Amino acid sequence: MFNNRDRWRVYKKMSIMFLLAVVALTVLQKGTINMVGSFDLQRHSGMDGSEGADFGATQADNKDSYNILKGFWKMNQTHPPHKTLVTSKELKVTAGRRATTWDITSTNCSANLNLSSQEWFKGLEDNFKQFLLYRHCRYFPIIYNHPEACNGEINLLMVIKSVATQHDRREVIRKTWGKEQVIKGKRIKTLFLLGRPSHDVEKVNHQKLVEFENQIYGDILQWDFLDSFFNLTLKEIHFLKWFDIYCPGVHYIFKGDDDVFVNVDNIFEFLENSKQEKNMFVGDVLFKAKPIRKKENKYYIPQTLYNKTLYPPYAGGGGFLMDGSLARKLYWAADTLELYPIDDVFLGMCLEVLHVTPIRHEAFKTFGLVKNKTSKLNREPCFFKDMIVVHKLLPSELKLMWNLLKSDLVCAQKAAIL
Ligand SMILES: *[C@@H]1O[C@H](CO)[C@@H](O)[C@H](O)[C@H]1NC(C)=O
Ligand SMILES: *[C@@H]1O[C@H](CO)[C@@H](O)[C@H](O)[C@H]1NC(C)=O
Ligand SMILES: *[C@@H]1O[C@H](CO)[C@@H](O)[C@H](O)[C@H]1NC(C)=O
Ligand SMILES: *[C@@H]1O[C@H](CO)[C@@H](O)[C@H](O)[C@H]1NC(C)=O
Ligand SMILES: *[C@@H]1O[C@H](CO)[C@@H](O)[C@H](O)[C@H]1NC(C)=O
Repeated sequence: MFNNRDRWRVYKKMSIMFLLAVVALTVLQKGTINMVGSFDLQRHSGMDGSEGADFGATQADNKDSYNILKGFWKMNQTHPPHKTLVTSKELKVTAGRRATTWDITSTNCSANLNLSSQEWFKGLEDNFKQFLLYRHCRYFPIIYNHPEACNGEINLLMVIKSVATQHDRREVIRKTWGKEQVIKGKRIKTLFLLGRPSHDVEKVNHQKLVEFENQIYGDILQWDFLDSFFNLTLKEIHFLKWFDIYCPGVHYIFKGDDDVFVNVDNIFEFLENSKQEKNMFVGDVLFKAKPIRKKENKYYIPQTLYNKTLYPPYAGGGGFLMDGSLARKLYWAADTLELYPIDDVFLGMCLEVLHVTPIRHEAFKTFGLVKNKTSKLNREPCFFKDMIVVHKLLPSELKLMWNLLKSDLVCAQKAAIL
């Protein structure tokens, strides 16, 4: 039998072990945080400046002025006449071929060396060569799976693109908008989507960290492909496949980056007020965006990869909302297309296959709140109160904004326009 003293010792030992683990985690994180620079998920940073003009007419709407009207986002949707003409062929989505578990068990995909001999290929930049050589390798084994993640009635699944090194972002999301909760009887679940760490230095440590984090929180899906910028499209299709297998009952999906602020209450209010039941895809949508042809831009695409003058309408990958059945159709549509290096554009191409037009909504600010970074609007809690998603915040800013919004914030009908 344990006496009190023994029990105390065990407790003490356990506490110390836990503390050690936390310290190790923090040290690892701190020690590497400065090396993170080479890959970040700030997808559209290049669009704040002059390049923004390249990206099509809708960018002009992001003015540095704003009227806060209570609940304005409920009805203030700008969307073109909505096409929901999905042909009968398309409705037979994935019938009969649904896997019941993640069925990819080995990575045996060699480079497509056929390309190397072709003239147009030789002229490409290295990153595009790399992308094209492995473009046909579509699915990879799963490292951390959670087949149980969607068990029970989940109304809203929030999936967040992250990378091993961004531990602190995941941590703050878990403590703020991403925490598991039930709002008005509707359950929310958050998962993080990861590939393999891409940094050569400390790659092993980062993977250990992910393993540890997954043990504690059980909210990480990780696949065995390199977490690189051009592989974000792989992350997209891996999630769609995973969702198709494991989440038949989920009603809605919010998908976004790990540096966004999300107002979950507003998502639910939006959904309650939204008439549209089928093929719902809403976000910060760009219509008529042009492919960027300036080589120094992060989103540069050579003619040989995409030769049309416009992209199909697509939503910024920073955060968008879609319904579960559309996600299943998107999985099917993705399989009919070749991979494209920009993940949100790729999803726009998939929507085009399905003849679904995404809806643009003012409450989604994934291309930055306002172009002027020093604008006070970026720090204005009353503004955030009316938003659904805002890109891009530091973990500390996110925490601060969250605390402000949870306090008894009194917002006037109209905030002072800056
Ligand atoms: C991988 O594929 C190559 C040819 O495509 C084959 O020769 C090799 O045996 C395969 N390896 C494994 C482990 O399946
Ligand atoms: C390379 O070319 C050969 C012959 O044309 C073809 O059979 C093969 O499928 C090609 N490989 C890839 C990865 O496309
Ligand atoms: C994507 O991941 C695969 C598998 O890890 C890797 O072979 C490929 O080089 C990566 N592609 C890019 C463009 O980083
Ligand atoms: C554009 O690309 C497609 C497929 O890659 C090709 O068939 C077509 O000829 C190209 N068009 C122009 C104008 O280059
Ligand atoms: C950005 O906003 C700040 C404060 O509102 C203002 O002082 C500054 O002139 C603005 N900059 C530009 C380029 O508009």
